[in-house]
Amino acid sequence: MTDLDLTNPELESESELAFEGALRPRSLGEFVGQTKVRGQLQLLLTAATMQQRTPDHILLAGPPGLGKTTLAMIVAHEAGRPLRMSSGPAIQHAGDLAAVLSSLVPGEVLFIDEIHRMARSAEEMLYLAMEDFRIDIMVGKGAGATSVPLDLAPFTLVGATTRSGLLPNPLRDRFGFTAHLEFYADSELEQVLERAARLLDLRIDRDAIAEIAGRCRGTPRIANRLLRRVRDYTLVHGRPTDGSEMARADVASVRAALDLYEVDSLGLDRLDRQVMTTMLERFGGGPVGLNTLAVSVGEEAETIEAVVEPFLVRIGLITRTPRGRMATPEGWRHFGLRQPGVGLTLDDL
Ligand SMILES: Nc1ncnc2c1ncn2[C@@H]1O[C@H](COP(=O)(O)OP(=O)(O)OP(=O)(O)O)[C@@H](O)[C@H]1O
Ligand SMILES: [Mg+2]
Repeated sequence: MTDLDLTNPELESESELAFEGALRPRSLGEFVGQTKVRGQLQLLLTAATMQQRTPDHILLAGPPGLGKTTLAMIVAHEAGRPLRMSSGPAIQHAGDLAAVLSSLVPGEVLFIDEIHRMARSAEEMLYLAMEDFRIDIMVGKGAGATSVPLDLAPFTLVGATTRSGLLPNPLRDRFGFTAHLEFYADSELEQVLERAARLLDLRIDRDAIAEIAGRCRGTPRIANRLLRRVRDYTLVHGRPTDGSEMARADVASVRAALDLYEVDSLGLDRLDRQVMTTMLERFGGGPVGLNTLAVSVGEEAETIEAVVEPFLVRIGLITRTPRGRMATPEGWRHFGLRQPGVGLTLDDL
């Protein structure tokens, strides 16, 4: 990941992985926000413990960086069970999945990240495994091939997806519970940031925290990442006034640091801005189809759909219509452009 991708909610670099690991909440109590989902998970886990059975399978759905992996780890931790991590792209054949499933210990939590990217043949194997804790293994080839049933240890599957719409219905139906993660409110992001600042030993003003919260696309991963850049900035440019080793981050240093990295007042990054200006300037504000838009900005349609669009819709800069994506009047205004066919209003004068 380059610095210019500071507000890309997807996770890419090694150093960031280590950094995230250090800041990850370990229990439901430490997990900020997502009140509804937290309550639902708590109930499901408590009931399973009372009945001494493995918790139901759980699907975590939502845009990148909102806490799916964190919640999967918390589920295992709260249930006091070991955790096995895998991912859709790593399961390209039914055999890959069979190897994982047959080596699970009783009660283990199996986390499959990006579950929508698993191979079709593996999906079918997973249906049976989730329902009956059993798989059929094919032995031999051609006419002489037979399937041999294999019993599995009971396990809890936790699946994560940024695109639940891509999951086939039979798979979606086999989860006992689907948690839809939402973007975080500013007040929740402030709590995430305060906790992270404490863990990073960074002294920071309240209004500086609020300034970061307003620019992180409702996403804890971005909040933490921006905080790290602010810490760098403060380390280099700040002057300690009280003899301590490090200066205090204030709102001016937050603004200077984020301006340096081109994160604007709404938290839009380069790709967001590119999508918006393309839509406004080349397509007259739309409607424009997803694929056309993706080709025009040289990005994959999947990235635009899973990463850029949900946020632009949420902050009201674009809407989805049956004929494609369209810029809203607010979208035109944020980019200082006049919407064609819309006359001057008193507000503009
Ligand atoms: N509710 C939360 N409270 C505090 N920190 C959080 C919360 N949710 C996420 N974070 C922080 O954000 C980081 C990213 O979260 P996580 O890796 O769980 O996202 P994700 O949804 O799995 O993203 P992806 O779809 O890219 O895999 C974590 O390191 C964690 O520190
Ligand atoms: Mg994840």
